[in-house]
Amino acid sequence: MELTVFSSYDKLSEFAAEQILQTIKSKAEAVLCLATGESPKLTYSMFVQKAKEQKIDLTKVHFVALDEWIGIPSTNPGSCHHFLKENLFSPLGITKNIHLFDAFAADYTKECEKMNETIRSLGGIDLMLVGIGMNGHIGFNEPGTLETLYAHVQELDSTTRQVGQKYFTEKTELNKGITLGLSHFFEARHAIMLANGKKKSSIIKSALEGTISTQIPTSLVRKHLNAQVLIDQEAASELAQRN
Ligand code: PGA
Repeated sequence: MELTVFSSYDKLSEFAAEQILQTIKSKAEAVLCLATGESPKLTYSMFVQKAKEQKIDLTKVHFVALDEWIGIPSTNPGSCHHFLKENLFSPLGITKNIHLFDAFAADYTKECEKMNETIRSLGGIDLMLVGIGMNGHIGFNEPGTLETLYAHVQELDSTTRQVGQKYFTEKTELNKGITLGLSHFFEARHAIMLANGKKKSSIIKSALEGTISTQIPTSLVRKHLNAQVLIDQEAASELAQRN
């Protein structure tokens, strides 16, 4: 795991956007798993701009979902579906090779198996870019989750239910999520974890300097063989060791 502390959120986002571009430049049929959330928003808008300017061929790239709120329609602006459409797919004109979770699947076990099989048949994830939850979750891999899991349904913990309200325009009941598992994270050929802002400083400290444990899933990034943790100065402010 390699930690980089950036002087600003802009610089962090610029770097992360470049990483996505480089992945595609070195492999036209790259499989990308790009998280939703506030943290990667600027990364995606910079990536969109660069991809357009440089006329990058995205027709062979595959996009796989990280997670989704169960029972939230894709038309709801708080859904992961909607976020990816707004921030990536629509601006880039991408309409195919998109593999997202169905928040209303008749059978969630089958939905998880389908996603696992999609990722397997595509040869695995080349780049997985995730944020850091306030409770240390990765996707909806909540504290205490098993490292051995692939896609699964997860009961959301109280922090996620509460913090998740920020994505919705009105109070929304959030109970369960469907998510890729930590095994997907470990198996991703390249993982990027990013966070910015003072509010993430305490969880960053626990994740990077506390005990490595599934109680703080993001701490497991330290066991990943090819991971970059990208944070800004504010998010790094509680770290004893900064670079
Ligand atoms: P955020 O979410 O980027 O909106 O802070 C991160 C997460 O919950 O994983």
